[in-house]
Amino acid sequence: MTTNNPSLSRRSTLIASSEIRDLLRLAQRPGVISLAGGLPDPAAFPIEAIAAAATHAISSDPATALQYGPTEGDDRLRAWVADRHTRQTGRATAIDQVVVTTGSQQALALIARVLADAGDVAMVEDPGYLGALQAFRGDGLALAGVKVDHEGLDSDHLESLLASGVQPRFVYTVPSFQNPTGSTMSPDRRAHLAGLSDLHGFVIIEDAPYAELCFDAAPPPPVASLTDRVVSVGTLSKVLAPGLRVGWVIAAPDVAAAIVRAKQASDLHTSSLSQAIAVELTSQQEWLDDQVAAIARRYRDRAETLHVALVDRFGERLRCTAPRGGMFLWATVHGIDSRALLATAIDQGVAFVPGSAFSVERDLANALRLSFATATTTELVEAVERLGEALDRLDPARVDLRG
Ligand SMILES: Cc1ncc(COP(=O)(O)O)c(C=O)c1O
Repeated sequence: MTTNNPSLSRRSTLIASSEIRDLLRLAQRPGVISLAGGLPDPAAFPIEAIAAAATHAISSDPATALQYGPTEGDDRLRAWVADRHTRQTGRATAIDQVVVTTGSQQALALIARVLADAGDVAMVEDPGYLGALQAFRGDGLALAGVKVDHEGLDSDHLESLLASGVQPRFVYTVPSFQNPTGSTMSPDRRAHLAGLSDLHGFVIIEDAPYAELCFDAAPPPPVASLTDRVVSVGTLSKVLAPGLRVGWVIAAPDVAAAIVRAKQASDLHTSSLSQAIAVELTSQQEWLDDQVAAIARRYRDRAETLHVALVDRFGERLRCTAPRGGMFLWATVHGIDSRALLATAIDQGVAFVPGSAFSVERDLANALRLSFATATTTELVEAVERLGEALDRLDPARVDLRG
């Protein structure tokens, strides 16, 4: 839906409402099993621990938990983030490199604002995380898509774009259990990407909200362990609760300082109470590790159920790889238009996000993103059955998935 309201700025019109989003509103109808949202399972929220941490934070130090705070964030939380990053990357990380943000979404918007001007080129994964595409487009950046396949961002494609003369301010990647494809960038590609950034002088934005949600082996070490040209982004949304809105960015001190200035103008600081809760919970590292492991187990069972149900129902005609972590399964069905399928699927009582929603330049009309995080295993099996019926109804002559 577009508007011609002359009071709106040109910039505001860069953030388009999408046809798909309008359609997905219908997915909230009772009875629809939605595999569309990227929402963590609320049953996995550590409710009692969060409530206890909130009570303790407010009663023990109300002047911190309820007062305005520093824009860069609570030093105790920043120190935890810096330590964690040092351990993960093997590179000493100082507290003044860390800025606590209101979710990692805010981190992405602020990084783009301080690294690039309107009209500058940013390279993004294609398909890529919709929230990042929106943030970058909303800032007037010109997006160039780098292909993603089962091994994550295709660094050879990136190299060929660079060779053709495209000069990005930054390359944005979700290297581990990517949203939307679920794929993980191989160690070779990570090294290639790091090498290209050193050679061409662009910054890499490494966004890792799903890296800890691994089902078997941990993903390869972060790209930030290979070069210091990385701005790292993290969040507690997928391991504690997204409603806390606690994320962070780790950057060189001068970039971090610019982000602090931009953040000050945006929201002064991230919720003091949420940060105080985060301080309490992250200080219990063993408890946190158990919490992350429990979520990963829960999602692993669901991912397996979904994958097996899809293979059983559709066989060769639907292509997907078994997820190894994260929250998403990416599937392609030859010869379909998944936007048309969505309308039929919602009638049939199941929803997903059509691949084209995540497209930068590629034609992803035959792809679907299925989230396995929120539906139960029983619902996932039923969802696949309904999806099959929707596909049969869509064009039974052309797409007979029963084969
Ligand atoms: C890849 C990626 N980055 C960032 C975010 C934003 O998360 P939050 O703002 O809750 O930290 C999401 C949310 O789904 C995501 O999938």
